[in-house]
Amino acid sequence: MDLGLRGARVLVTGASRGIGRAIAGAFADEGAHLAICARARQPLEEAAEELRGRGVTVVARDLDVADTAALRVFVDAAAAELGGLDAVVSNVSGGSAADWEKALRTDVLPFTALVEQAQEHLAAAPHGGSVVLVSSTSALHVTAPSGTKPYSAVKAALNQHAAALARTLAPRGVRVNTVSPGPVEFDGGGWARRRDTDPDYYAGIRARIPLGRLGRPEEVARAVVFLASPAASFVTGANLVVDGGFLDRV
Ligand SMILES: NC(=O)c1ccc[n+]([C@@H]2O[C@H](COP(=O)([O-])OP(=O)(O)OC[C@H]3O[C@@H](n4cnc5c(N)ncnc54)[C@H](OP(=O)(O)O)[C@@H]3O)[C@@H](O)[C@H]2O)c1
Repeated sequence: MDLGLRGARVLVTGASRGIGRAIAGAFADEGAHLAICARARQPLEEAAEELRGRGVTVVARDLDVADTAALRVFVDAAAAELGGLDAVVSNVSGGSAADWEKALRTDVLPFTALVEQAQEHLAAAPHGGSVVLVSSTSALHVTAPSGTKPYSAVKAALNQHAAALARTLAPRGVRVNTVSPGPVEFDGGGWARRRDTDPDYYAGIRARIPLGRLGRPEEVARAVVFLASPAASFVTGANLVVDGGFLDRV
């Protein structure tokens, strides 16, 4: 299936490692040009160089998405440098387990700023624009690893906002979808850390995943890239769970 992404212009937040890095790589493999950001400059530059090696243009900016003014400047600069924007992926999360204000600053406010700033660019995209929110299964249940963390509650709030945006932006030709990963493991990520520091907890979570293992970043990335692409032209307001069967629900 041709996803129709060759030459597309895509912005991905938090793309120097983990799921965001895999998302950027999957877009590059489809021939999409990229704008990526992260806070630490060196890993971001290394990611950008590797992606350029796949034959696409990559704009990279070191910034903290909690600085929504800087995020807005980045959105407009990305559109200017890439010649427009066809899709934006909100991937960064502060992952806050205790700090409610931080969760609002790193998760909620950047998403609203990103969509507000990008929507004129997306509305001008020739095949329609698209937004993908990377959420979490933690928004969809209350047992571990979800619980009473700000992380889980703000993800749930973002799910509602993305679904509502899907309705309000549809008349402008902009689709909005969510991808909700279950636990995903990669070197340097939170689950690899827990595997080493708290093996019993890790094993307990793994035992609840019917497919028998945690997910891989590229498995989430493929879902994001599909939803962002013209191949998903009639899909909006969806929340695609990518969790190996972890959630017990209909
Ligand atoms: N991993 C999982 O098991 C899992 C499960 C469900 C959902 N998710 C969701 O998937 C998304 C990515 O998760 P991940 O595990 O790949 O995250 P991660 O390992 O923490 O990577 C996040 C990326 O975002 C960048 N970043 C972090 N905070 C930033 C900020 N304030 N401003 C700009 N860039 C920032 C990081 O680079 P710098 O640190 O240099 O900024 C890095 O490139 C998140 O929304 C997360 O909630 C993950």
